[in-house]
Amino acid sequence: MERVMGGGMLPLVLASVGVLLLYRILARLRPGAGVQDAVVVITGASSGLGKECARVFHAAGARLVLCGRDAARLQQVVQELTASSAGTQRQTYTPSTVIFDLADTDTVDRAAEEILKCYGQADVLINNAGISYRGNILDTHLSVQRDVMETNYFGPIALTQALLPSMVRRRSGHIVVISSVQGKIAIPYRSAYAASKHATQAYFDCLRAEIERYGIPVTVISPGYIRTNLSLNAVTGDGSKYGVLDKTTAMGWDPQDVAQAVLRAVRQRSKDVVLAGPLPTVAIYLRTLWPALFFKLMSSRARKEKKPKDE
Ligand SMILES: NC(=O)c1ccc[n+]([C@@H]2O[C@H](COP(=O)([O-])OP(=O)(O)OC[C@H]3O[C@@H](n4cnc5c(N)ncnc54)[C@H](OP(=O)(O)O)[C@@H]3O)[C@@H](O)[C@H]2O)c1
Repeated sequence: MERVMGGGMLPLVLASVGVLLLYRILARLRPGAGVQDAVVVITGASSGLGKECARVFHAAGARLVLCGRDAARLQQVVQELTASSAGTQRQTYTPSTVIFDLADTDTVDRAAEEILKCYGQADVLINNAGISYRGNILDTHLSVQRDVMETNYFGPIALTQALLPSMVRRRSGHIVVISSVQGKIAIPYRSAYAASKHATQAYFDCLRAEIERYGIPVTVISPGYIRTNLSLNAVTGDGSKYGVLDKTTAMGWDPQDVAQAVLRAVRQRSKDVVLAGPLPTVAIYLRTLWPALFFKLMSSRARKEKKPKDE
């Protein structure tokens, strides 16, 4: 066996690894579809990752529909983007805005109509808006579990379902959702958030399979910590604001880099993208391949943390 490994198998294994690496490098370099003139709808565009996505898609020449709850903050983003395009060579467009609360799913159909009126179509929907949570399940009101689910799960799926028929009619479109590493693994004191992101992953995985026949890709993006206001805006078990910028969030990925990765995923029509360092990546594999060890580690983390801390 040793002789076989030494003589014949080893070069074969090395060659396979080389081909795999080359494939991954080429996949990153592939130019993919452009977004120039494409109508790109971004929810949660007033801050954090959504605002950075607005910046990169605007600079790439997309016609943007920015969504959020706060008209003044969205208008501020529009002004910043318009000012940034002065003197650029590429054709850029002044973004449109649509104001609505994703947690109020009864208003989402009307919002979708408004979105479609902006440019007559939606080419890419980026479901980005979201809220986080910190809390101990024992002390968390059921209403809080429900509220987080409304914003992170029911809102995005309501908007997706409202815009999808127009994409299916045109046999063209692209659905993107910003999930989280916590859509793949659940960590203690994040029940409402992790549950909403797990539901998101499952829904959009089903959707991907169902709408592939219409030529509409579905991209689920699962980042680790990103340097945004997510933890500041998180809710706690009694519904009050957490209001703390966690260390892990403060030291997280630059939202600009994540936004560039979102643009790349749209261009390459990627299906599932995890943007995380080695530790969360290992944890995702551990959850599937060695669940007993994963559960042990999570129990020990829960005991150590006692109180909710960072995302
Ligand atoms: N930051 C991280 O560490 C991290 C990690 C993984 C995944 N993510 C995901 O990334 C996405 C963006 O979050 P972020 O980090 O950029 O946080 P953020 O800075 O707090 O931004 C959240 C955005 O969502 C919007 N939003 C919240 N509730 C809404 C509602 N009910 N209706 C409409 N819009 C609503 C907010 O808009 P207004 O408040 O202005 O209305 C804001 O623009 C989220 O889905 C989050 O789960 C974040």
